[in-house]
Amino acid sequence: SAENNRHWEECMEFAVQTARRAGQVIREAVKLDKCVTTKSSAVDLVTETDQQVEELIISTLRDRYPSHRFIGEESSAAGERCFLTDSPTWIIDPIDGTCNFVHSFPMVAVSIGFAVKKELEFGVIYHCFEETLYTARKGHGAFCNGLRLQVSKEKDVSKALILTEIGAKRDPETLKIFLGNMEKLLKAHAHGIRVIGSATLALCQVATGAADAYYQFGLHCWDIAAAAVIIREAGGVVMDTSGGPLDLMSRRVIAAGTPEMADYIVQQLHSISYERDDHDTDCISTSC
Ligand code: IPD
Ligand code: CA
Ligand code: CA
Ligand code: CA
Repeated sequence: SAENNRHWEECMEFAVQTARRAGQVIREAVKLDKCVTTKSSAVDLVTETDQQVEELIISTLRDRYPSHRFIGEESSAAGERCFLTDSPTWIIDPIDGTCNFVHSFPMVAVSIGFAVKKELEFGVIYHCFEETLYTARKGHGAFCNGLRLQVSKEKDVSKALILTEIGAKRDPETLKIFLGNMEKLLKAHAHGIRVIGSATLALCQVATGAADAYYQFGLHCWDIAAAAVIIREAGGVVMDTSGGPLDLMSRRVIAAGTPEMADYIVQQLHSISYERDDHDTDCISTSC
């Protein structure tokens, strides 16, 4: 309805303000000593700033929209599961590119997605160091600092720049598949493959047309939610690496400027399996 439309527009404006505030905190924190700890593996890093920024974002949004639901990377780590319900839900990655942040490698973003009735309504991604803002609202186009975005029209992998990411799982089997996938695309004469350390900013490069495709296994709903709207509104495709529709909780994604590019890569990829984001761990331990 027109009323909902206005409401989501207002929510997006507030998300933009909140992302900018969070970005400022991150820009300040990157200059200071960092307290780094690990989560699922020795290369799955987290800092106090990740937690602090998530708290800032969620408390700011919750104050304004007390009836909404929130899924955030750092609160999910503390045991909250990420089921998407029909309620308006904010899906937040406070720092995407924590490893980059730790090394002061300047590819770090704040990502805020918003879904209603399980449909993504808008996405806001703020590149903290470049101070570039990517935004899109369903049906209203995608923008970078106010300029309209358009994906690449490339269909041919031999003319493509492709982005991917390796997650924090580094066992021999995972590495073998990861490298095997890259090898296939290189043998198909892709112009290049890039790993920039931020899934959301990699996805934004597909939205701007700077990259022709991106795929990853092992990422989370907060890495995809905002970017998926931005790519779609820039005219691109975002789907499951099996070629089916995107499933936010499936831990995998492929995005491209054209369906032909996405389909070609889908054919090449060997998948790496990960436990779903909405996996109900409580249910298993209590065998309900
Ligand atoms: C990670 C980054 C990384 C990707 C990982 C993500 P984080 O997010 O986007 O590039 O490879 O899968 O988990 O932990 O820095 O928010
Ligand atoms: Ca993380
Ligand atoms: Ca992330
Ligand atoms: Ca993060």
